[in-house]
Amino acid sequence: MRLASLLLAAVSLASTVVDAYWLQDIAHRGTAPFTPAGYQVFRNVKDYGAKGDGVTDDTDAINRAINAGNPCNRGCASTTMTPALVYFPSGTYLISRSIQPAYMTMLHGDASSPPTLKATSDFAGFGLIDGNPYYTSTLNWKAVNVFFRQVRNFIIDTTAIPPGTPATGMHWPTSQATSLQNIVFNMPTASNVVHVGLFIEEGSGGLLTDLTFNGGAAGASMGNQQYTMKNLKFNNCKTAIIQLWDWGWTYVGLSINNCGVGIDLSAGGSAGKVETGSITLIDSTLTNVGIGILTAWGQNTTPDTAGSMVLENIQLNNVPIAIQGPNSVTMLAGSSTSMTIAAWANGHVYSGSGGGNPGETAKLIAPNNRPGVLLSNGRYYTRSKPQYEQRPVGDFVSVRAAGARGDAATDDTAVLQSVIDSATKQNKIVFLDHGMYRITSTLRIPPGAKIVGESYPTILSSGGFFNDMNSPKPVLQIGQSSGQVGQVELVDFIVSTQNAQAGAVLFEWNLMTPNGQTPSGMWDVHARIGGFTGSQQQVAQCLKSPGDATVRKECIVAFMAMHVTKGAGGLYMENVWLWTADHDIDDAANTQITIYSGRGLFIESTAGTFWLYGTGSEHHVLYQYQLSATQNIFMGQIQTETPYFAPQPNALVPFPPQSSLQDPDFSASCAGVQERNCAAAWGLRVINNSKNILVYGAGLYSFFTNYSTDCSTFAAGQTCQARMTSLEGIAQGSQVNIYNLNTIGARQMITRDGRQVVWYADNVNVFPSCVAVYRSG
Ligand SMILES: *[C@@H]1O[C@H](CO)[C@@H](O)[C@H](O)[C@H]1NC(C)=O
Ligand SMILES: *[C@@H]1O[C@H](CO)[C@@H](O)[C@H](O)[C@H]1NC(C)=O
Repeated sequence: MRLASLLLAAVSLASTVVDAYWLQDIAHRGTAPFTPAGYQVFRNVKDYGAKGDGVTDDTDAINRAINAGNPCNRGCASTTMTPALVYFPSGTYLISRSIQPAYMTMLHGDASSPPTLKATSDFAGFGLIDGNPYYTSTLNWKAVNVFFRQVRNFIIDTTAIPPGTPATGMHWPTSQATSLQNIVFNMPTASNVVHVGLFIEEGSGGLLTDLTFNGGAAGASMGNQQYTMKNLKFNNCKTAIIQLWDWGWTYVGLSINNCGVGIDLSAGGSAGKVETGSITLIDSTLTNVGIGILTAWGQNTTPDTAGSMVLENIQLNNVPIAIQGPNSVTMLAGSSTSMTIAAWANGHVYSGSGGGNPGETAKLIAPNNRPGVLLSNGRYYTRSKPQYEQRPVGDFVSVRAAGARGDAATDDTAVLQSVIDSATKQNKIVFLDHGMYRITSTLRIPPGAKIVGESYPTILSSGGFFNDMNSPKPVLQIGQSSGQVGQVELVDFIVSTQNAQAGAVLFEWNLMTPNGQTPSGMWDVHARIGGFTGSQQQVAQCLKSPGDATVRKECIVAFMAMHVTKGAGGLYMENVWLWTADHDIDDAANTQITIYSGRGLFIESTAGTFWLYGTGSEHHVLYQYQLSATQNIFMGQIQTETPYFAPQPNALVPFPPQSSLQDPDFSASCAGVQERNCAAAWGLRVINNSKNILVYGAGLYSFFTNYSTDCSTFAAGQTCQARMTSLEGIAQGSQVNIYNLNTIGARQMITRDGRQVVWYADNVNVFPSCVAVYRSG
């Protein structure tokens, strides 16, 4: 008796001294419903033989942990069915070859004491972590189809590899709903170093945050369609960032110290064809950097607007040349002491009612007049995904322990509701173990709730309750009535629908978090509508049928992805992808499907105050983003796509416009529009006196008509749809401002009250058309 209680006391003492990260200690009950019995979602690498002692070669043990249960790895197209969370306790893991995570696999280190992955001196492989290997001459996964992957809390160390031997910290050609967070790259600082911390050559991102690069020839060398990257630090790199190519890119909060070059955008310049479409850089500091930004852009370079760049609030300390153009011409002088670039733009600048080709600008411009409610110490407020590493394991309440099944079949509504309510009352955190939780009525998220998912569990709406287009119902209702006061945090999960769900609103955000308090937040929380096992909105039910405009009722699967209602306010969103599937992820050939979701993200909050970092909204019928009578919104790289089936049918069906939701009425607004395909989803629509809408990077794309991409090139005249961005009823002085607006497949880039303001052919970029600055005036 006495001995036992002494032991217990010792154990509890030890656990207060070295409290392991809760994720390590929590009971692992997550299940994947479409796997054989015994399939483990959570894998601690130490259970697979990894030592983490800095001496033993742990490569094989780690790859065993990843490949247990035969997940989607070499040769597999993609799948949602074999999710995994591979966990690394604190320690130093010596590796001699690449770690190759599978599709839908997360690599998480201990958040309170991140583990080190240390390369041996004879390391062989393309990245200590290779997120998409070249087993052949092509990537294992088509980079634009790599979704639902995370890596966080690591130190990646190549310092044992000779500096002159090529080495890559991490290879990460991936796309939406992927994230890297809290990773340090340690590389040699020798003058002959050729190491690169992070290498990305393709994809459609995505979000990266809180990365530190020490040493190396380049911290990060990257090409991708678009990205949002925030809080990246570069110390003692020869070049901090090499931009290989892009369409649009938003950098927020870079800190570049003691580097030769800050950002090198000169790719393609020597060959006369600039490769970087555009970048937006804000709220950053460069200290002791030889050349801040090196660009290939010039008055006469091609394509016309390639190399567009907008800077805002950049602090330079001992940066002799701020911007250097081709032939070593200084475009903006720096300073051997300190200076601030309030704002700079090169590229095409428009305002108000627009006009033809405005010619090239390269000059200091007035910055946006930033609303104070969006700022913290003069910069836009940011908050990375909370990992709750300060909280003990006893503060987490498992929904599976409480009896939720998560098998995509059982009705889990009541048990989820009860856990959410009781955990929140006790100030505890709901742990959504991996699983697919079917619900048949609205799940109410009360003020104070915190919900954390294990490797993207899914909440799946189902049944008749959600299937009436004339009586839409929220799947998740955050705040019970519009304007209820409180704060909520949602982390790492997916909301989806099953079968026909014509009335499903996946997120209804009613909560008002007052200014001055910690905003509510969503981090890596996604709408995934269709295209996965369990949805029954797949190839078997909704195979595409190009040319056939008949709407199949069973393929009307959502009313709206997210509705932020009039009384709501104070919400921070980071890496949120509101996706209607264009293809079936669980089909071996990734076959395309035709499913219908009415609307993307609709914000009509009158108080406003929203931050959208790295969000996307895709393939909804009426619009991707619509803002009505709202204000004070930061949007940093938004990304949209129009449905691939359009215009068969076009956006007149199957969702009749509802005036109470300020829906676009294409039958009225397209009258008199000469361009083809007018009744097509808006990428971004801002209406009804909205003000202080500050967009820092937008990629609004329409690649297809009738499942053919023929319309989306300059040669074809970008004829996929007539119009893409609409401002309606915006008053003078309202500040609806967009930096680096990139559109694809649309003729009129911006219309205002129905009239053309900006025309695509006046703004030719690398593949999109690009406007560096548009201000509503
Ligand atoms: C749409 O595409 C299909 C398949 O490629 C083709 O058969 C059909 O004629 C096309 N329809 C139109 C109107 O272009
Ligand atoms: C909002 O804007 C739409 C489209 O411009 C317009 O039809 C509607 O009357 C406006 N509603 C309000 C409440 O201002």
